[in-house]
Amino acid sequence: LVVRRPLPHDSAPRHVTGAATYIDDIREPAGLVHLAPGYAPIARGRITALDLDAVRSAPGVVDVITAADLPGPNDISPKLIGDDPAITDGPVRFYGQVAFIVVATTRDAARRAAKRARFTTVAEPPVIDVDQASDHVLPDYSFVRGNAQTAIDRAGRRLEGSFRIGGQEHFYLEGQIAMAVPGEAGEMLVYSSTQHPSEVQHVVAHALNLPSSAVTVEIRRMGGGFGGKESQATQWAVLAAIAAWKTGRPAKFRLDRDDDMIMTGKRHDFRCDYSVGIDGEGVLSGVDVVFSARCGHSEDLSLGVVDRTMFHADNSYFYPECRVTARRLRTNTVSNTAFRGFGGPQGMLFAERMMDHIAYTLGRDPLDVRKANFYREGRDRTPFGQQVTDNILAELIGDLETRSDYRARREAIAAFNAGSRILKRGLALTPVKFGISFTLMPLNQAGALVHLYRDGSIHLNHGGTEMGQGLFTKVAMVVAEEFGVSADAVRITATSTDKVPNTSPTAASSGTDLNAMAAVAACGAIKDRLYDFIAEKWKVGRDKVAFREGQVFIGNQSMSLGALANEAYLNRVHLSAAGHYKTPVISWNRDKAEGRPFFYFAYGAACSEVLVDTMTGEMKVERVDVLHDVGKSLNPAIDIGQIEGGFVQGMGWLTTEELVWDKEGRLRTHAPSTYKIPAASDIPENFKVELYESAGNREATIWRSKAVGEPPLMLGISVFCAIVNAIASLRPGIMPALDAPATPEAIMRAVRATTAGE
Ligand code: MTE
Ligand code: MOS
Repeated sequence: LVVRRPLPHDSAPRHVTGAATYIDDIREPAGLVHLAPGYAPIARGRITALDLDAVRSAPGVVDVITAADLPGPNDISPKLIGDDPAITDGPVRFYGQVAFIVVATTRDAARRAAKRARFTTVAEPPVIDVDQASDHVLPDYSFVRGNAQTAIDRAGRRLEGSFRIGGQEHFYLEGQIAMAVPGEAGEMLVYSSTQHPSEVQHVVAHALNLPSSAVTVEIRRMGGGFGGKESQATQWAVLAAIAAWKTGRPAKFRLDRDDDMIMTGKRHDFRCDYSVGIDGEGVLSGVDVVFSARCGHSEDLSLGVVDRTMFHADNSYFYPECRVTARRLRTNTVSNTAFRGFGGPQGMLFAERMMDHIAYTLGRDPLDVRKANFYREGRDRTPFGQQVTDNILAELIGDLETRSDYRARREAIAAFNAGSRILKRGLALTPVKFGISFTLMPLNQAGALVHLYRDGSIHLNHGGTEMGQGLFTKVAMVVAEEFGVSADAVRITATSTDKVPNTSPTAASSGTDLNAMAAVAACGAIKDRLYDFIAEKWKVGRDKVAFREGQVFIGNQSMSLGALANEAYLNRVHLSAAGHYKTPVISWNRDKAEGRPFFYFAYGAACSEVLVDTMTGEMKVERVDVLHDVGKSLNPAIDIGQIEGGFVQGMGWLTTEELVWDKEGRLRTHAPSTYKIPAASDIPENFKVELYESAGNREATIWRSKAVGEPPLMLGISVFCAIVNAIASLRPGIMPALDAPATPEAIMRAVRATTAGE
């Protein structure tokens, strides 16, 4: 088999030698102009006058573009609902909102010129966080089962809490970038670092009053997307295309890192308020939770993102009666957007927080409380009505508990903590259950295009985009398997809207599930024609034909794939096919909150141990064991890479990464000097990641594999819970009031609150 092997990422050597072409590496076309953004120094109010004379007269400036210059509708919102202008025409809704664009001969000249603008503004006090907010980007929405409040009132014990969950900057290594090249009959070719080429195509066409057929969007690879380029790559592509249209010259827009951080949306941060009812063992009877999400100034993807928070507010636990509510609040900050897990991590952090709250209040081991609340037969309905039928958590957790030596270490840590006044250890083992499928049903489809040439070489294209996650490698392996050739015999090509149209974003971890299936359909169509041809020419049925080892075995003769392809061509057989796939079974009616939104669930668990200095708030992750379910892996090397990367990114979200806006709405953490993503030294020294062995996905996914992109991020929650565990050792019977991220300051606050009045 070609699949199932730990093949390296197809671009790995090019990534590390610098030979991989990102958009900024594309040989620049003659006459290229560069863009830079300008924005008003306020977060809310109006620009009453904008003096751009000094900008226009600055060296190298070719043009200056304002809202008045736009040829079409001024809207870059994903659904084109009109709430997200490409350039503001006066109102300012967040600090960093684009007010004009400079077009110059160099990027440096454009950036210098942008600084010369003179704004006259009328400022209003901005609404920065959810506590101040009262306006909504979308109506409140709930999942309701039974009556949570009466269930809680009836319960033996009631717990209440409120805590904060921080946002997260994507910090893709390649920032937002697009290059637009005008064509001869009003066409526009746009290279965009986007997870969603079809949406960029659609919005660019809309902004330029062009039919979609006149706009082509191409992307070979991104230097990371993490959800940040699902909807928010569009604005820069649209502005580059407008500059190209207006000047008639190719135009490139690469955001500076600080501007990228100031101007683009992040993971939604939340305040989470809950009350729950439990029995003496800590088993839940009722859960009532309200998530208040900071959505920023516009809707963007807040419908789907915050719905996914709700879909994962149960994580792996059965809530007999419940109400899960989300409030989507409008603030004068960047419009928050997709980020690995798409809102799910925030929902899950609530579930784990609640488990800890129960455990520390009752004085039980948190793992035992978790296990007591797990979904199992008869207790397997989620708050949104889907039955959990593929649950493997009991076995998976049991396995990890043994591998990580949980019980013995629990005792050792208790002994250590008893003898150590300042340094405290903590241990936590937490599960992940993540629903796979887009909850917006139409997105669960994909297309692919496969050409077999006369020499037997194969050209592969599909609607998915490569952002480092290894999608292209996996799909190429699947196609290689279909034709019985090695993976490197399949030519991987850039995603392009003129090859495969009407595609979904590469998101929701579904890239391989969808695109590999579409590619198999395309291969199948070509092979069907070859089987017919073989039957006609050699009188051999398809059951006696095999594609393997670069050969085609036809009865008792064999030939190379190229020889067969050439023979077929000479007999006028069509050797190219498009394939399409749509996920079966799923359905979701949001109005009625009814259906089966997820094709299946991906599971995993992590056990993390930390050492906390309760005097300074410093924290170190000492050991991590991960067991993660990817069904039958298509490529274990790539899957393990995704799990490691996801874990570390999740750990960063909950520990060192902190976004700070000041009262004026300015982001104060807009560079790596102030915003701390995990460094190599933060990766736990003892970090063991293993794939959970199973018979594979129970659903008929590609080679019985499971999606892997997002779920592992939520394994990082184990680090947060381990920190809580360390702090909890200070005072039995108290739930430490730790907000996320658990920065040293947050840890110190929680330590003080826990020990106060002792
Ligand atoms: N891995 C890398 N290296 N870079 C990325 O940008 N994005 C993540 C995940 N893994 C990302 C990544 C996100 S947010 C998603 S939704 C999936 O990859 C998307 O790709 P897939 O559907 O092919 O897994
Ligand atoms: Mo991933 S957040 O679905 O792009």
